[in-house]
Amino acid sequence: MSLQLETNKRRTFAIISHPDAGKTTVTEKLLLYGGAIQMAGAVKSRKTDRSATSDWMKMEQERGISVASSVMQFPYKDVMINLLDTPGHEDFSEDTYRTLTAVDSALMVIDVAKGVEDRTIKLMEVCRLRDTPILTFINKLDREGKEPIELLDEVEEVLKINCAPMTWPIGMGKRFKGIYHLYNDTVRLFESADGLNASEGELIHGLDNPELDEKLGSLAEELRDEIELVRGASHEFELDAFLKGKMTPVFFGSAVNNFGLQELLDGFAKYAPAPEGREASTRFVKSDEEKLTGFIFKIQANMDPKHRDRVAFMRIVSGKYEKGMSLKHVRIGKDVKIAKAITFLANKRDQAELAYPGDIIGLHNHGTIKIGDTFTQGEDLKFTGIPNFAPELFRRAQLKDPMKMKALQKGLTQLSEEGATQLFRPIINNDLILGAVGILQFEVVAQRLKDEYNVTCLFEPVNVSTARWVIGDKTEIDKFLAKVKENVAYDAAGELVYIAPTRVNLTLIEERWPELQFVATREH
Ligand code: G4P
Repeated sequence: MSLQLETNKRRTFAIISHPDAGKTTVTEKLLLYGGAIQMAGAVKSRKTDRSATSDWMKMEQERGISVASSVMQFPYKDVMINLLDTPGHEDFSEDTYRTLTAVDSALMVIDVAKGVEDRTIKLMEVCRLRDTPILTFINKLDREGKEPIELLDEVEEVLKINCAPMTWPIGMGKRFKGIYHLYNDTVRLFESADGLNASEGELIHGLDNPELDEKLGSLAEELRDEIELVRGASHEFELDAFLKGKMTPVFFGSAVNNFGLQELLDGFAKYAPAPEGREASTRFVKSDEEKLTGFIFKIQANMDPKHRDRVAFMRIVSGKYEKGMSLKHVRIGKDVKIAKAITFLANKRDQAELAYPGDIIGLHNHGTIKIGDTFTQGEDLKFTGIPNFAPELFRRAQLKDPMKMKALQKGLTQLSEEGATQLFRPIINNDLILGAVGILQFEVVAQRLKDEYNVTCLFEPVNVSTARWVIGDKTEIDKFLAKVKENVAYDAAGELVYIAPTRVNLTLIEERWPELQFVATREH
């Protein structure tokens, strides 16, 4: 099949939500529709990733599973869906942010009782950086929650995006009777379903259908009035506004009952964008270009601890991947033969024979591939927009055995390549300062240093509260370095970073050096 046809079939997305809203459950049910039933259990077992370090470690030991389910590919009707999983625990949010740079759309799951929560707001901000189109699923309608109209107002107000209801709930909690599809003019009656059954629920066509009065009694008339009101008071769905990230189509349902998800998935297949292309340093690369290009958005280390093997996840931007092809690793300027890439067809983790724009392939990596790297068939270009966020927590690595300094440096450097932690070396001393976005990261790194590098190290508090990459022209930077030695460090990539002891100190420095920029995100 032609590249264009295959590309147009691709829908690559991730789910954004606050923990407990139902991301795991939705994922599991979506996989059912894709016929990838075996995977459903695997997704569930990963829930441990947000409970405790020990659970997280256990999950890491079962990394085979977690790698396989970090990307799930499954067919649905005419489309091929790539669902990119994001870690549930907020200490791993950097990973989530970067995964969001590799998708073409996102699904926002909201708990009907809780409304818009913190994590959702944060993740939405990240989506906004690229105007990613967002679909919304309001979950848990089988429980009491906020009034749907109020919820839509809340989403519009807090997230600054227009809502276009696609389906509308009929009651909620114990009185939940089903949903009405505003565009297909059909009612689906609620039926609860357990486990792996894909519940269908009876369909009634037409809001005026007398059958509705038979089934719903006086609720039918109420529904008619309510829908008239909703149509008058809410936005009509506009594809263009959705594609620009300005409007979100909203679906209601109950994931655990597998209800309302079919409508969502149909809407997703119909409206979510196929891969279009991506901005690179020199030009825009279109997805229908024949030559393969792609970028690395995630690295997962030590699939096999003995070999220190890592998998680098590459999102294909253009062209077709064929097994055994040679690709140029642009940053190091070398051609590499990709013999054994991994694909993620949900019910089997296979070696990739073919992959298309929008698809993710896993490359075996022995330390040469970094997050943000671009691969091409010869052209020197670099995809942009894969962010590195300034960490919010800092610790100094303290070595137990001073003879292990080399191993410690190596371990910290390699683990930082995964992107979850960042290593800073102050210019005035030999400290190794690790920055992370979540406290759990330090425990994970300490444990992994022990397991994988045979180094025992503690992380002790250090007087750093925030970090900013310093950008400016060379003379200004030189002046800065001559004056301000303290609190200046290099990151693992050799970039200059100001590690401020306090926010106030940072503000003062910013005021004192107006010609320099102090930025909180750096592109890889
Ligand atoms: P997450 O990945 O976003 O953190 O959420 P997850 O799917 O794990 O769901 C969080 C909890 O909400 C789970 O209950 C799940 O069963 C429940 N849930 C998900 N969808 C619905 C729904 O439509 N209706 C209702 N009533 N509950 C829903 P739990 O008790 O934490 O876990 P479990 O014991 O059920 O697995």
